[in-house]
Amino acid sequence: GNSLTHELLQIHEEACQLYHHILVNTEVGSEALAYLKQRGLTEEQILEQEIGYAPNERNLLKQVLENKGMSQQGLVESGLMIETKTGELFDRFFNRIIFPIRNDQGKPIAFSGRLFDQQVADKRAPKYLNSPETKLFNKRQVLYNFSYARAHARKLNDLFLFEGFMDVLAANRANVLAGVASMGTSLTNEQIQKIAKIVDQVTICYDGDQAGIEATKRSLETFQTQTKLKVNVLRLPEKLDPDDYIKKYGETAFYELATHHKETAMNFWLFYYELDKNLTNELDQLQYIDEVLTELAKLNSVIEREMYLKQLADRFHLSIESLQETLQQKKQALR
Ligand code: CTP
Ligand code: MN
Ligand code: MN
Ligand code: MN
Ligand code: MN
Repeated sequence: GNSLTHELLQIHEEACQLYHHILVNTEVGSEALAYLKQRGLTEEQILEQEIGYAPNERNLLKQVLENKGMSQQGLVESGLMIETKTGELFDRFFNRIIFPIRNDQGKPIAFSGRLFDQQVADKRAPKYLNSPETKLFNKRQVLYNFSYARAHARKLNDLFLFEGFMDVLAANRANVLAGVASMGTSLTNEQIQKIAKIVDQVTICYDGDQAGIEATKRSLETFQTQTKLKVNVLRLPEKLDPDDYIKKYGETAFYELATHHKETAMNFWLFYYELDKNLTNELDQLQYIDEVLTELAKLNSVIEREMYLKQLADRFHLSIESLQETLQQKKQALR
């Protein structure tokens, strides 16, 4: 690549090492280190991922980078500085735990900084602050942990999609190594293309809260445009996210869930369309059956379609024939 790209990579490498050093080797980082350990991160993970801490100062990274001979243009375009109206530069990240975000070669190209819980509760700033888009960091392309998960995903022919950093890292401790996170934004076509190159199958495992359920729906719809991939869902109980689940029920329980308790996308729709309904009411029943048949019409597998048609017929005491007829009409409408 050209020399600016090269310098931006250097800047991120320097910043990554600085923040990591402060976290693991200095007194200033001790509170952050204690926090991470209390959250369950292992020493190994902290070292391997080069997690860091940006202290409560606005000139630290700037000074270090200038001393290393980095250019003003490099500093500005790295996204790691904030420029005032008068053109003065300040460190973007301060008093935050730093998660390096890496490119497909494993090189840091951006950071996400997390506040301590107390400051999150104060609500004066967002819990996670990410680098802005830069020459290196195209948010539509990047998936957190992809460079690490790729080999495991290939072997498993499955990739777990989580919401956040802590979920990826907790899943790793539970030996679910093929996990990435989309970092709070909705899944993009670029990310899906990237995933489709390495696996035939993915598992959406978002948070069990309402936001996670809605995000699962949206991701399933985005995936439906990419017919080649088989999409399954791992739904978590009690509004838990994977990290919370592991904290509450243990690593073995999560591994077991991830291995044997995934559900089909269709099963997720059966759950989803029931959420806002009272299925003892006939109007709601009719609407539910209609919504489910609309999803069934999109299925390619004859066996899967028959399986769910039978379930539906049993549940609502209807004949397979009448459901089948409606299904055919819906399929025709799709053509
Ligand atoms: N996120 C973000 N900015 C925020 C909140 C969330 O970028 N203000 C992104 C982060 O990548 C985060 C993900 O969205 O990991 C999921 O959000 P959430 O579930 O709220 O956070 P957790 O991952 O559960 O974070 P933690 O466990 O550290 O509280
Ligand atoms: Mn490194
Ligand atoms: Mn969430
Ligand atoms: Mn969460
Ligand atoms: Mn969480």
